[in-house]
Amino acid sequence: MCPDAATGTLAPMPWDRTRLTADGFTGWIRISDLPRADVPSGAGVYVVVRENTLPPRFRATNPGGRASEKDPTVPVAELREAWVDGAEVLFVGRATRGVGKRQGLAKRLAELRRFGLGQTGNHWGGRYVWQLADSDDLLVAWKETGEADPEEVAAQLLARFEVDHGQLPFANLVRGSATATQLPQIRAARVEDIEEVVELWTRAGENRGRPADRPDLVRLLIERDPEALLLAVDDGVVVGSVIAGWDGWRASLYRLAVAPEHRRRGTARLLVGRAEARLKAFGASRIHAMVLEENQDGHGLWQALGYTPQPDWRRWVKATR
Ligand SMILES: CC(C)(COP(=O)(O)OP(=O)(O)OC[C@H]1O[C@@H](n2cnc3c(N)ncnc32)[C@H](O)[C@@H]1OP(=O)(O)O)[C@@H](O)C(=O)NCCC(=O)NCCS
Repeated sequence: MCPDAATGTLAPMPWDRTRLTADGFTGWIRISDLPRADVPSGAGVYVVVRENTLPPRFRATNPGGRASEKDPTVPVAELREAWVDGAEVLFVGRATRGVGKRQGLAKRLAELRRFGLGQTGNHWGGRYVWQLADSDDLLVAWKETGEADPEEVAAQLLARFEVDHGQLPFANLVRGSATATQLPQIRAARVEDIEEVVELWTRAGENRGRPADRPDLVRLLIERDPEALLLAVDDGVVVGSVIAGWDGWRASLYRLAVAPEHRRRGTARLLVGRAEARLKAFGASRIHAMVLEENQDGHGLWQALGYTPQPDWRRWVKATR
């Protein structure tokens, strides 16, 4: 077993103006100024940003437009649930190119504003933002996507956000279509997954120097902490796993494994992002993982995710059965 643990300090990339400006976003105008703003007419992606760091206050009713007579109002409890602490980006949208009524950034953003004023139902996506008490102060920034497919660019932004925060931006209720096809779903393991998980670990896990996995022990874990074992599921098949363990004192990641045929597609990044979000919610300020000294795949992964080896510790172990 690898003697040294890797430690990581928790500093998610901030989704703020500095980061997005560096990523090519421009504009940064108040959403209430949108009809008068000089927005380009080409295809692109846009973000709705709240720079106010005070906790959000929500209106009981949504003043936004109606789509086919549907009321955009959502119960405040649902909005609180969707809120992403520490993220200024509330919504990522995309405007496709072409000659359609809804296409191009200028048209799409004009629709966004009109929806907020209750005038149309043509920007149903992102409707949560209008239930914020300070919705008029929100900012909008955009990036033209040139030859790239805005759908794809938005999907990648959403995927990166999801990795950093463990959930989609507040007002994005569904992943971009490209994301949906590229990234597996992350969910907690259920008892009926146990056999598939053990089979995955047998063929994909870091297995040297440790006891073999047993289904009864995985069941004990699920019974003791039903949210600890996270799975990446692609089209109903378990393709990845990680255990995010919190014992009230330490936060540990175990059994990170991705099926060989699914590697280098961001699955481990997504799993670890979701695991970190869980551990941070418990109050963890540091997370560690055990990595075998010879595991070059593991070293590359942990390094990419901001973890560094701790050379002055060695694991001391006593078998109890
Ligand atoms: C290590 C492992 C979990 C990575 O899973 P993955 O889904 O392929 O990883 P991701 O695609 O999320 O990789 C994210 C980043 O980590 C780094 N990375 C991942 N695998 C790497 C490798 N084999 N070599 C070097 N860097 C690697 C890269 O920077 C990668 O980003 P990039 O693809 O844009 O360059 C997978 O190879 C695996 O299951 N290995 C066997 C089990 C194992 O060793 N688990 C870790 C135990 S500590």
